[in-house]
Amino acid sequence: MPDDLFAVAISGSPRAPSKSRTLAERALSELEALGCRTQLIDVAVLPAEALVVRAESSAVAEAIEAVGRARIVVAASPTYRALYTGVLKCFFDLMPQEHLAGKFCVGLQTGIVPQHALSAEYGFRPLFASLEGVPLAVTYALDSDFTDGEPSAEVMARVGAAMQGAVNAARAG
Ligand SMILES: Cc1cc2nc3c(=O)[nH]c(=O)nc-3n(C[C@H](O)[C@H](O)[C@H](O)COP(=O)(O)O)c2cc1C
Repeated sequence: MPDDLFAVAISGSPRAPSKSRTLAERALSELEALGCRTQLIDVAVLPAEALVVRAESSAVAEAIEAVGRARIVVAASPTYRALYTGVLKCFFDLMPQEHLAGKFCVGLQTGIVPQHALSAEYGFRPLFASLEGVPLAVTYALDSDFTDGEPSAEVMARVGAAMQGAVNAARAG
């Protein structure tokens, strides 16, 4: 049943307002329209000391536990130095091995230059696979695709198609 599906989106931008976080929010809206229960995890508001393993944090533990319950995992990040952000990586580094096993994973990445579009592929796919996740589509959007913080209809069509694909995969699996 569609309403059995739980999906999380992890936002990995340390800055606000955030275009990639907006994509994560829009992705969750699409997933809700497709019958999913959803939760947004914003890494930027998690305790930094816990993200670098200098402290324990119930907020971080709860966020990682939520990822563990999800069937669909969306990761959204700006491009930083031709990859997803370091703070997003810190969050994934805290996950136990096989934490994404059987989960359908989608990457959303924003950046200023089209030449870095491939970094969403070579970044997210191995990241998900390293935790036994099933990588699906990645979507790369340029800052110029946003107007007043809102993504273009073309970007939203790609995000919507990616979410539909993830729900189809989760229902089939
Ligand atoms: C530290 C830093 C590094 C960046 N490196 C890149 C880069 O390598 N390639 C690129 O296309 N954009 C780069 N950008 C631009 C951001 O990826 C882009 O503005 C992004 O959409 C910001 O997303 P956000 O609004 O979610 O934070 C960089 C920005 C910052 C602050």
